[in-house]
Amino acid sequence: MTHGPTQPPRSAGYVDLGDADLNARIADGLAAVEKLLHDELSKGEDFLVDKVLHLIRAGGKRFRPMMALLASEYGPKAGSDEVIRAAAVVEITHLATLYHDDVMDEAELRRGVESANSRWDNSVAILAGDILLAHASRLMSGLGRETVFHFAETFGDLVTGQMRETVGPGDSDPIEHYTKVIREKTGVLIASAGYLGALHGGASDEHIDALKRLGEAIGIVFQIVDDIIDIYSDPDESGKTPGTDLREGVFTLPVLHALQEDTEVGEELRGLLTGPLTDDASVERALELLARSTGREKALADVHRYLAEAEEQVSRLPDNEVTRALGQLAGYTVRRVG
Ligand code: IPE
Ligand code: IPE
Ligand code: MG
Ligand code: MG
Repeated sequence: MTHGPTQPPRSAGYVDLGDADLNARIADGLAAVEKLLHDELSKGEDFLVDKVLHLIRAGGKRFRPMMALLASEYGPKAGSDEVIRAAAVVEITHLATLYHDDVMDEAELRRGVESANSRWDNSVAILAGDILLAHASRLMSGLGRETVFHFAETFGDLVTGQMRETVGPGDSDPIEHYTKVIREKTGVLIASAGYLGALHGGASDEHIDALKRLGEAIGIVFQIVDDIIDIYSDPDESGKTPGTDLREGVFTLPVLHALQEDTEVGEELRGLLTGPLTDDASVERALELLARSTGREKALADVHRYLAEAEEQVSRLPDNEVTRALGQLAGYTVRRVG
């Protein structure tokens, strides 16, 4: 069996970075990442390869590789083979977490197509995620000790975040708990894209640190926006089913804010959201109530606080076209929710 080339990602490369040369360099970098992803993920038995290519072919924004490529621009080895490899490692790690996340969340849709657990079953989805980690490790082995150590820390944080979400807030403050979760499960991997891109691009320590922190802030914004989309968007746009988090009993930031509301809407929500929502009618009702609540508006206010953190990191970088593009990137993630 031969495996054809992957489709160009749905929106990667379409982000206008505001400078024609930079757009061209990043588009070339993304094409190189795409080729490496395809070559690496085509290794192995056909019955594994088709499962693994399923979500790669379905699209995805390739946001993390783009972040890595941009971060690499601060050093003399921008867009080098090592940078491309590091960008692919981050995207493959991300992809592995998506396969596993959809099992945990019992999600049916991913990247606009059936999730692996829904197309096949949980065992297949788990093993596909695992083989992706094998691919990421193979690529990483050529990138040196620092990268391997960084990956161990990153992946440890990521799993901690997913586990923290699974065990729930217990008696702790639910918004603080949520904030820790999203920093760990999403912030660290976009931070990793910034860090590894800058490291392998040969940037200075000061810039590596700023790009790592910038990635983390962007990641947090990104996740809050994603959680807003889970509640307030239609599936044609998001490629996912609305209310997935609610069905699992995972209460994200807009929900947590709405639950604290001292109104009739808040009261009805507190009665309804006592655990996972099992029937469609309750999910519908919860979504209706959330639409009337201040949840979205308050979550967006939090987004703006993290955008300010992103701007602070941007101000540590030299004033050039790449920094201007990075400044826009956080804003771009917010525009997904308007
Ligand atoms: C989805 O990430 C998981 C989150 C961290 C919210 P993306 O929104 O980057 O997913 P793809 O790669 O574009 O599919
Ligand atoms: C995203 O988790 C973070 C990871 C996949 C590690 P979510 O469950 O919030 O993301 P979506 O909404 O399924 O993409
Ligand atoms: Mg999920
Ligand atoms: Mg999840």
